[in-house]
Amino acid sequence: MPLAGWRRRVLAAGGFPASWLLAGPATSIPAWTWALAALPLLMAYPLRAWRDAPLFPTPAGALDALSGRLTLPPRASLLDAGCGLGHGLEALRSAWPDARIEGVEASLPLAWACRWRCRWARIHRGDLWGHDWGGHDLVYLFQRPESMPRAAAKARAEMRPGAWLVSLEFPVPGWTPGHRVALDPRRTLWAYRIGPEPAARSTGAGPRR
Ligand SMILES: C[S@@+](CC[C@H](N)C(=O)[O-])C[C@H]1O[C@@H](n2cnc3c(N)ncnc32)[C@H](O)[C@@H]1O
Repeated sequence: MPLAGWRRRVLAAGGFPASWLLAGPATSIPAWTWALAALPLLMAYPLRAWRDAPLFPTPAGALDALSGRLTLPPRASLLDAGCGLGHGLEALRSAWPDARIEGVEASLPLAWACRWRCRWARIHRGDLWGHDWGGHDLVYLFQRPESMPRAAAKARAEMRPGAWLVSLEFPVPGWTPGHRVALDPRRTLWAYRIGPEPAARSTGAGPRR
């Protein structure tokens, strides 16, 4: 699969030469220093975040195409579930400038950095699966394909009818999107309107509209 973006290409091309260059001097380094070096990584990516997505920022303006299509109340409440450094929050703000914007992030350093970058947003440090989505008019996700069935079940159980679940790149299996926007040949935005039927009567991850 072709790699898009210069950062990805540099990482892919540089990985082997970098490890080869480091392999020689590394034999003289005590083994425990590797455990020490892993600590910042573990802080940035706590174990529970490994199931979902690592940090990958939403491109600027990625949600603008949805702003005219989704009906949201004035001063709508929007949540980026797994907000990373805040690029998704910025995309939400660009699309809905008058909205009240919140994020939840599992990684402590990322949550701190995000609070510092996006002072206009409310950032919770915690697990996106334990965080209540119920009070929000729109929940935005940029996670993994494997996370989508669980996200759909959570949205169905907690979000009110008429609210929106929006996902960058990864669709909800079995749900029919209210809107589908191709951002580029590789990336699609999926927007699902939560239907009116009570959660107790819903059956599996079937279509919502
Ligand atoms: C692909 S990035 C998206 C970041 C941001 N939403 C954006 O679009 O720019 C996924 C983010 O979700 C966070 N994450 C993964 N699993 C999580 C969980 N269970 N609870 C909260 N955050 C999580 C990761 O730490 C990472 O910052």
